[in-house]
Amino acid sequence: MIPTLSLLPLFFLLAKSALASLFTDPSQLRSTTYDYVVVGAGTAGSVLANRLSEDRHVRVLVIEAGRSDNGTDVANIRIPFNAPIATPGTPFDWNYTTVNQGFLNNQPEAYPRGKVLGGTSTTNYLVYTRGASNDYDRLATVAGDDGWTWDNLHPYIMKHSSFVASADGHNTSGQFDPAWHGNGPLRTSAPGFPTVMDSRVMETTQTLPDEFPFNVDMNSGNPLGVGWTQSAIANGTRQSAATAFLGPVLFRSNLDVLINTQVTRLIQTGRASGKPDFRSVEFAQSATSPRYRATARREVILSAGTIATPQVLLLSGIGDRGALSRLGIRTIIDNPHVGNHLQDHPFVPLQWEVNSNETFDQFSYNPDAAAAALDQWNSNHTGPFSTNPIANHLAFLRIPENNSIWEQFEDTSSGPHAPHYEIAFDNLYISTSVENRPTSGGFLSVTLIVTSPTSRGYVKLNSSNPFDHPLIDPALLSTDYDMAIMVEAIRAAQRFVDASPWSGFIISPSVDSAQTTTIDSIIEYSRRRGATSDHPTGTAQVGKVVNGDLTVKDVSGLRVVDASIFPYVPTAHTQAPVYIIAERAADLIKAAHRN
Ligand SMILES: Cc1cc2nc3c(=O)[nH]c(=O)nc-3n(C[C@H](O)[C@H](O)[C@H](O)COP(=O)(O)OP(=O)(O)OC[C@H]3O[C@@H](n4cnc5c(N)ncnc54)[C@H](O)[C@@H]3O)c2cc1C
Ligand SMILES: *[C@@H]1O[C@H](CO)[C@@H](O)[C@H](O)[C@H]1NC(C)=O
Ligand SMILES: *[C@@H]1O[C@H](CO)[C@@H](O)[C@H](O)[C@H]1NC(C)=O
Ligand SMILES: *[C@@H]1O[C@H](CO)[C@@H](O)[C@H](O)[C@H]1NC(C)=O
Ligand SMILES: *[C@@H]1O[C@H](CO)[C@@H](O)[C@H](O)[C@H]1NC(C)=O
Ligand SMILES: *[C@@H]1O[C@H](CO)[C@@H](O)[C@H](O)[C@H]1NC(C)=O
Ligand SMILES: *[C@@H]1O[C@H](CO)[C@@H](O)[C@H](O)[C@H]1NC(C)=O
Ligand SMILES: *[C@@H]1O[C@H](CO)[C@@H](O)[C@H](O)[C@H]1NC(C)=O
Ligand SMILES: *[C@@H]1O[C@H](CO)[C@@H](O)[C@H](O)[C@H]1NC(C)=O
Repeated sequence: MIPTLSLLPLFFLLAKSALASLFTDPSQLRSTTYDYVVVGAGTAGSVLANRLSEDRHVRVLVIEAGRSDNGTDVANIRIPFNAPIATPGTPFDWNYTTVNQGFLNNQPEAYPRGKVLGGTSTTNYLVYTRGASNDYDRLATVAGDDGWTWDNLHPYIMKHSSFVASADGHNTSGQFDPAWHGNGPLRTSAPGFPTVMDSRVMETTQTLPDEFPFNVDMNSGNPLGVGWTQSAIANGTRQSAATAFLGPVLFRSNLDVLINTQVTRLIQTGRASGKPDFRSVEFAQSATSPRYRATARREVILSAGTIATPQVLLLSGIGDRGALSRLGIRTIIDNPHVGNHLQDHPFVPLQWEVNSNETFDQFSYNPDAAAAALDQWNSNHTGPFSTNPIANHLAFLRIPENNSIWEQFEDTSSGPHAPHYEIAFDNLYISTSVENRPTSGGFLSVTLIVTSPTSRGYVKLNSSNPFDHPLIDPALLSTDYDMAIMVEAIRAAQRFVDASPWSGFIISPSVDSAQTTTIDSIIEYSRRRGATSDHPTGTAQVGKVVNGDLTVKDVSGLRVVDASIFPYVPTAHTQAPVYIIAERAADLIKAAHRN
């Protein structure tokens, strides 16, 4: 049929939108059947969207609950310095809170998660750390699959990222090891703006080399020591799974990305190989809007993250029978591990006033200084706002074997390269509380993280409504072991700042840190100021919920690829581990459906 003149504009409009692959309403979808349906365009989901759609003969649908990472209202997300303030309590965050943390101050904790293309990689603090080789070797052991060892993951470690110039263009020779960096889409870099802490941290690695040795590259599989922070920043701008993996392939005609739409459950499509087959997904834009369905010819991949992945499994009848029946959900697979074993890194900050007005604290006191820094970033993406505000140096450290805590506890780290704790050296006052917050002066903060915790919590449904938040309990600092490590970490940090390079520069401990002079007061302080590092993992873990190839146990057509699969939280800020496992998962998926 030849369109009549009056229909022509509409025809062209339709033809144009049919080329675009970013959809904002389920009614726009071009099909209800795809080869793969990926749930969540977050850190892992964006990698899968990119790699699976490399084969132009397969059709991929990605469904993301959040919005696009492009547009004027999200400009703030791109500025590295604004990472801690840009998204909490905005539509770009899920706004989860935990149940009361009984081993902290008995209050609920904010539990941020990105709700946007790129997921939490679009809203996180940008730190890029891979963890210890032993972490991956232990994953391989639990999975019964040698493909997950550090050595065998090498191609994926090199494939997903690259190392580029810092925002200030300084010579980064000696600040990283090029041998450990590949040519992949996610661009990372060394700090982009020098701070007054840098030379003192480096000198301390020379005055106390036994306890705090310098490590030229903590992303070599051996993170132990003190090194320069690597961040997902290029050209002074945030790099996320959306900017690196998803945005650049949106033009592919075999990739459909549907945003502003939440998957409400997975639907059993029958049985295959004697197991319930889960190849259909149901989705909607709100609790009251119409529900749609799409079906995967090959498989559905859940990449909704550590909180939402178990939530979707539970809503689909995969979980603890008793808990599901209390909510009126029919159990298809009875597995009490779904949502259980939530693990996170507990976090405690300490601060010291220093003899400098040049710390980043000036931006909280002086609006003109902040405006000038923002102007500079806007003009050419340089200056203080181009860098990671968290720290120019990190330390990953082990507690020595002759420490008396090993008389009481068994070492739970994955091996000799795995740290027990992490210290970040921060160029500003960092606290989890507004209490005692200074209004003048410059500060050094050190923030401590227990990297191999034994505390375990859960994610549970609170109702059968997919638009209600689940109950989340990371059970932070709930074991004596985790607290014992935190105490050792704080004492190590205190030894670090007692070293000679800091004398004359440190004026005094902050009001808060002055309260950490004895073991008892450190414990009391840690419970009062402890918080999350935002690294939840383990709620759909290998061995308990998914098999070694990340397929969901006892069902067919369904796999999980995101931070929920780790049986032990890696000794790292968790984005790089997620990128690495997602790269291998993409190859596992392709191999499973070859011919
Ligand atoms: C504040 C903060 C700071 C952090 N800082 C760092 C850091 O500096 N360095 C670091 O390495 N790590 C950091 N992390 C952790 C790291 O970012 C995460 O571990 C990692 O990004 C998780 O990846 P993921 O793929 O598992 O989940 P996500 O990236 O969260 O992706 C899940 C996606 O699924 C979507 N989704 C959820 N439910 C549904 C549904 N039902 N239907 C459709 N879509 C859905 C979500 O909106 C999201 O886009 C930080 C985390 C936070 C919260
Ligand atoms: C999070 O809270 C903020 C502030 O109340 C709100 O504007 C935003 O829409 C919320 N985000 C979501 C995803 O509901
Ligand atoms: C960077 O520093 C290294 C070591 O000091 C030096 O060998 C190299 O020439 C420098 N590179 C440039 C571009 O100046
Ligand atoms: C965002 O904008 C960039 C640059 O215009 C583009 O390459 C990318 O595909 C866009 N991403 C999305 C999700 O629209
Ligand atoms: C900080 O600035 C104030 C006001 O300009 C000045 O009096 C003080 O000496 C400065 N302190 C340091 C440590 O530079
Ligand atoms: C960036 O702009 C600032 C002024 O805003 C200027 O001082 C600086 O030299 C510029 N840097 C580059 C690399 O252009
Ligand atoms: C880096 O940012 C500047 C300033 O916005 C821009 O002009 C330049 O094109 C960017 N370079 C790259 C490689 O993205
Ligand atoms: C542990 O061993 C180190 C190195 O031999 C030694 O310096 C330290 O004093 C020992 N600590 C204890 C508690 O024995
Ligand atoms: C769980 O449900 C109860 C009862 O509806 C409600 O009061 C509570 O706020 C919910 N909790 C969360 C975390 O949403």
